[in-house]
Amino acid sequence: MSYKACLFDLDGVLVDTAIYHFQAWKKLGENFNYQLTEEQNEQLKGISRVESLNRILAWANFSATAEQKETWLIEKNTIYLDLISNMNPNEILPGVIDFLVQIKAEGYKIALGSASKNAEIILEKTNLLPWFDLIIDGNKVTKSKPDPEVFLKGAEGLGVSASECIVFEDAQAGVEAAKAGGMKAIGIGEDTVLGRADKVIPNFVGIFSADLLKF
Ligand code: G6P
Ligand code: MG
Repeated sequence: MSYKACLFDLDGVLVDTAIYHFQAWKKLGENFNYQLTEEQNEQLKGISRVESLNRILAWANFSATAEQKETWLIEKNTIYLDLISNMNPNEILPGVIDFLVQIKAEGYKIALGSASKNAEIILEKTNLLPWFDLIIDGNKVTKSKPDPEVFLKGAEGLGVSASECIVFEDAQAGVEAAKAGGMKAIGIGEDTVLGRADKVIPNFVGIFSADLLKF
């Protein structure tokens, strides 16, 4: 086996929290009379909280003070935490557990590489935490995807080289981050959005890891 580690994004790959982020940003947008669209939300996937707010304010053509931004970042997260408070293992995306069972048995190391500062709470609520050898989340990085920092820290922490890693991502920015880090990228979602990935699958349903992880 030439690949030794699988690095997973969280939102949109293991669980579907994108919908909760969307709802929370839409609610926050009411503060400055802005209606966020689904297309715009797509561009926020994989992007840190603060950068997401900056982009939304730019789309809204609204210049906020630093204090206002700080308040809104807290407000957005409060809304989001409320929305995810009842998450449970039923919200793990289809096929994910079967896939984790396979790669664990094959000896791959498993890490999380997420921009979210709430990653650990979500992994706990969904009982996914025990699957991970290492968690790199938004609290451990300074640069947002498409910078490769989150995945490079994952490789380093697992003690493998970047070229031995395969990244699973649902966001354009995440695929770019994996490629910039010199890793293989498997896109989860649509080919049209994730064209830069080495392979794209719609989801993990029926996926046979020995086939998928062959490059
Ligand atoms: C993930 C999501 C983004 C989100 C970011 C930060 O990458 O795809 O939509 O903005 O995490 O999440 P957080 O939970 O820290 O606000
Ligand atoms: Mg994602």
